Amino acid sequence: MTTNSFSKPHSAQNVTDYPNNNTYFLVWNFKAAVDQAAIKSTFQSICALVINLNNSGLNRFPDSKASCVMGIGYDAWLQLGLPQPLPKELKRFEPITGGKHTAISTKGDLHFHIRADNKSLAYDMSSALSEFMSPIADCIVEVQGFRYWDSRSILGFVDGTENPHGADREHFAIIAEEDPYYKGGSYLFVQQYLHNLDAWKLLSTEEQEKVIGRSKDQDIEMSDEVKPKNSHIALANVGDDFKVVRDNMPFGNVATNEMGTYFICYASTFSTVEKMLNNMFIGNPEGNYDRILDFSTAKTGSLFFAPSLDMLDEFGG
Ligand code: HEM
Repeated sequence: MTTNSFSKPHSAQNVTDYPNNNTYFLVWNFKAAVDQAAIKSTFQSICALVINLNNSGLNRFPDSKASCVMGIGYDAWLQLGLPQPLPKELKRFEPITGGKHTAISTKGDLHFHIRADNKSLAYDMSSALSEFMSPIADCIVEVQGFRYWDSRSILGFVDGTENPHGADREHFAIIAEEDPYYKGGSYLFVQQYLHNLDAWKLLSTEEQEKVIGRSKDQDIEMSDEVKPKNSHIALANVGDDFKVVRDNMPFGNVATNEMGTYFICYASTFSTVEKMLNNMFIGNPEGNYDRILDFSTAKTGSLFFAPSLDMLDEFGG
């Protein structure tokens, strides 16, 4: 275990940027058969590589808004001997089981969120990471998300409108004095959802709007009198003081008919995300669950911690 002696300034990884045109989401799990020393030394190189990739992307292609954010799961944190005590709310994500739908928990050691308007750059960043990672870990999730029209989810509704904007993004996404040692870090939560688009398309536009709680074409929120209590936004909105920065991206594979949403959010407190998930899956009141789940199945669910850049630098030796 490393002792807690970190005392530098705390600039965050790129957790407050908006989704851009192309994104790679990668989840890697350490191989059981690999020597611990090899895992630790590769992890150090990866920390340095992530910083290098961000700097290089900015320098070479400033218009591409490229970045790579790395998150570390609870088990990996312990395995790597990273500082203790851990970030206050970093734990293994426990499944949330409602009467009808479950937010499952799946293992994830390291998560990479790679964004670039230029897909070549996003691919090169993913490929560079993979060269380092492959000897010590397996990539168990790769999702290539893309901007769908005017920021629509594959369900056809604009996604991201009620996200915090301006200074609020930093406020809701990045840890400040509430956990001083981990200042500049963020909780990173992801779920890969598959949508039943066949069933979704059987609904009229009016019915779909009742599921989301907003108009489809114009992206206008329904008034409280009209908005159904089991609509997505009625349940996901847990109050003005509890927000997260969402960077969801749609993905789609016509050959396998796997169309979905990669849900990803950054938060200064994981309990805020849990409030949203409880409302969606268990319901508020219990049983009044989110109707979006009748058309969406969570195939993964993992919590990570995205340390500040300074801390990554420290981890990189
Ligand atoms: C099934 C995958 C999901 C899809 C397709 C989806 C899509 C959407 C859409 C279209 C909106 C309305 C526009 C907007 O404000 O962004 C929205 C709002 C929102 N979603 Fe989701 N979402 C999904 C999962 C989740 C999950 C898992 C959470 C939380 C853990 C969540 C939290 C929110 C929040 C907080 C809002 C804003 C509510 C408000 O204040 O009006 N979403 N989502």
